[in-house]
Amino acid sequence: MAIAHKFKFWVLAGSTFLLLLGACTTTQKTVEFSEKEQKDYLQKGQMVAQQSFAALSGRLMAAIEQGGIPHAVKYCNAAALPLIDSLSNVHQANIRRTSLKVRNRQDVAQGWEKEVLEAYQGLLAEGKKPAPVVKKLDPKRVAFAAPIFMAQPCLKCHGKLGETLNEQHYAAIKQLYPQDQAIGYVDGDWRGMWSITFFTK
Ligand code: HEC
Repeated sequence: MAIAHKFKFWVLAGSTFLLLLGACTTTQKTVEFSEKEQKDYLQKGQMVAQQSFAALSGRLMAAIEQGGIPHAVKYCNAAALPLIDSLSNVHQANIRRTSLKVRNRQDVAQGWEKEVLEAYQGLLAEGKKPAPVVKKLDPKRVAFAAPIFMAQPCLKCHGKLGETLNEQHYAAIKQLYPQDQAIGYVDGDWRGMWSITFFTK
């Protein structure tokens, strides 16, 4: 009998705990995120993503012109992340690119990023176009995501092997990224997304 009583107590304690947890989750979900704030962060996110894209692709194109694809790949390997880090500092944000099929393991999707990538994938499967989104993660962090699509110049490093992607060039890529998953794309394909976390204070 005593055991049964004890058990009941624990069940009761357990459900109180669940209730409390439930209460916490509810408060977290209702963190203020006004329409105006959402609009502002969407705008800001798009501006930062465009600026980051311009910085990256400008340097990349210059590196291709200077030393061809293998040189540009090495350049990208050494410079892409530091460049994005310095832009992150300027904007008090964490700027990243992520995808369901990554080249650099450091770009594997985390937590909310994976949810957005899967939502984008779902939209595309229904023939819809993914759009930029914002989400308040907690009182101090706002997340922004925007889809990334492939364009013709990207295929030189992410295209179809032996067609748009030269085999020798790919050997140079594989040397740096032995686990690369980011090839086989055609112009206009969905590639991944920008992930920008703004620190609000
Ligand atoms: C010169 C070769 C080259 C070209 C051209 C190129 N990329 Fe990449 N891409 C890379 C390399 C190398 C990485 C890994 C960078 C790193 O280590 O941070 C990468 C990484 C990425 C990532 C980050 C996610 C991941 O898989 O790690 C995205 C997104 C991406 N590329 C999209 C594009 C798009 C869009 C274009 C065209 C506008 C493009 N790339 C053109 C070589 C290239």
